[in-house]
Amino acid sequence: SLSFIHRFEPATVPGKPPILLLHGTGGDENDLLPLGGMLAPGSALLSPRGKVLEGGMPRFFRRLAEGVFDEADVRRRAAELADFIQEARDAHGLAAPIAVGFSNGANIAAALLVLRPEVLAGAVLLRAMVPLADTPSGDLSGKPVLMLSGSMDPIIPADNAARLAAQLTAAGAEVDHKILPTGHGLSQADVTIARNWLDRLT
Ligand code: MLT
Repeated sequence: SLSFIHRFEPATVPGKPPILLLHGTGGDENDLLPLGGMLAPGSALLSPRGKVLEGGMPRFFRRLAEGVFDEADVRRRAAELADFIQEARDAHGLAAPIAVGFSNGANIAAALLVLRPEVLAGAVLLRAMVPLADTPSGDLSGKPVLMLSGSMDPIIPADNAARLAAQLTAAGAEVDHKILPTGHGLSQADVTIARNWLDRLT
């Protein structure tokens, strides 16, 4: 058995890139499967449950307060998740996945991009922030990243999201950062934009 509790749905359309689904705080491995099906019909879906518990709510790394991260834990958990992705690729014969992460899941996906860029083929970051204050970013040349932020998000300051987009761009990623007139939660616009973006990739 693999190192994370997870759900896996095999591809139903050959040649479509696998999607790694990363839930937000309090979610689990089931939450984003319907979203994955809407965004990437036919793709394999790999959906782990975050191992950190905060008041019983699963997350992908520890935080000291909302928006204040335990950076040593971010590094450790990103390494653990990168190992899981490799195990799952071996077990199921998968290509490198495109991450689709929401909130805390977007933040661990951003950490993977800067710490272990080889494990992801790209990422859709829904309401992401800078995961690590000080990051020697690896080479993200040519990796496609869609970032969708909310202009009324009470958790993520606009300059923080902009800084993440700039960091990823500086590392060579092809970043498309859109700011939607919405809050921290997902909107129909997120689904439409992310689906079209993924569709154009493949
Ligand atoms: C985080 O802890 O990753 C961010 O505060 C987003 C969240 O999970 O609410």
